[in-house]
Amino acid sequence: MSDLSPSDAAKLAAARAAIALVQDGMAVGLGTGSTASVMVRELATRVQAEGLTLRCAATSQVTADLAASLGLSVESLDDIGHLDLTIDGADELDPDLNLIKGGGGAHLREKIVAASSDRMVVIADPAKVVEQLGAFHLPVEVIRFGWETTRERIKTALDAMDLDGRPVLLRMRDGAPFVTDEGNHILDLSLEAIPDAVALNRALNAIPGVVENGLFIGLCDLALIGQPDGGVVELAVFREDETREDG
Ligand code: A5P
Repeated sequence: MSDLSPSDAAKLAAARAAIALVQDGMAVGLGTGSTASVMVRELATRVQAEGLTLRCAATSQVTADLAASLGLSVESLDDIGHLDLTIDGADELDPDLNLIKGGGGAHLREKIVAASSDRMVVIADPAKVVEQLGAFHLPVEVIRFGWETTRERIKTALDAMDLDGRPVLLRMRDGAPFVTDEGNHILDLSLEAIPDAVALNRALNAIPGVVENGLFIGLCDLALIGQPDGGVVELAVFREDETREDG
């Protein structure tokens, strides 16, 4: 690991710890982002070395393409139906292992895949661990039709939660609005801090035109935080199924 940056060494350590949880015959959800892509590469290496049989569902087209190019068996989520384990990155995680995701614009599929899994394990470097969510922008995927009126409703909802005046910006890429794998736009909310993530998650997802926001509440029960020296810190919470938020 010595030629890796501290951040990349941490991501690799987290990825390796996560793929150690994968067992032969499992159905595995593959996350999206730079940390998840390290995990996909490590997983493919292990599958080849040990002759494992896995069924994989990807959380984005980018990940599906990468996994398939490395020889992993990628199927649609519906063909697999239910997953044993999903391994994904995160933009922020708090002490309850609630997350902000969607920095890469894939949080809609990521949340569907995580919710279809017995277990979601997050892999991250130490910079992602926060006391309170919200310093990272919160992505909200919205239908393109009427997106500007949807943005106004989001601002109204933020006002009602004492989050008034926070910027709500249309995500752009290469001079044009970003389009997700599902053909939608993303609004990035610069909230600075999210005092009540459960309430905000519900309020945002109740707005017509909002498809899904990047708050993952009660979906993750283990985070593997890679360290630059190759070590891994495990953060775990106990969840009973009935405590899982559905949004
Ligand atoms: C993708 O939409 C995101 O949810 C990623 O999982 C998240 O942004 C973490 O990505 P990195 O591992 O690249 O930081």
